[in-house]
Amino acid sequence: MSLGKLRSFVESVTAIVAEERDERALLQRIEPHLAKLIAKDDWLPEAFTVPHPQYYQQYLLHCDPLQRFSVVSFVWGPGQKTPVHDHTVWGLIGMLRGAEIGTTYACPSPGSPMCNGAPTRLEPGQIELVSPTVGDIHLVENAYDDRVSISIHVYGANIGAVRRHVYDVQTGAAKEFVSGFSSQVLPNIWN
Ligand code: FE2
Repeated sequence: MSLGKLRSFVESVTAIVAEERDERALLQRIEPHLAKLIAKDDWLPEAFTVPHPQYYQQYLLHCDPLQRFSVVSFVWGPGQKTPVHDHTVWGLIGMLRGAEIGTTYACPSPGSPMCNGAPTRLEPGQIELVSPTVGDIHLVENAYDDRVSISIHVYGANIGAVRRHVYDVQTGAAKEFVSGFSSQVLPNIWN
């Protein structure tokens, strides 16, 4: 299995984050490279596709040495979902396998229930954006209760180390969390 596609993607995003300061332009420039990466589900090594029976998995595929961006394989077991959460940095989510359903939430006013938008379904090849400017709070779930789904995420930081928040939908209360990653190993894109 060739990791050339992932390597090319990492090279392109490295060049873009080095020169692009405008977040909107940066997202626009990265999107076609992510589209190319997820166009065909034939490159992700099996080690980064393994679900956990209880928890969704976030496998780090690459982290920029200056932590300007990271690439993650997000693996959903059947029926798994996130809590309502934010990112605090820009991100692109590209569907590789299966499908997921995302529901966006408005910024909370403490003490009041949080308002949500209509759920949208992401199919293989499709991309969704998140960031504090385009909308940063959502809940994401596997669209399937009988199979694994996988999306490839790119974030504007080392996402495993970012202090962000999960929200109580009823009260709008935010609780800080740091996600970490699900594995100690990364794919060798240089072989
Ligand atoms: Fe998210």
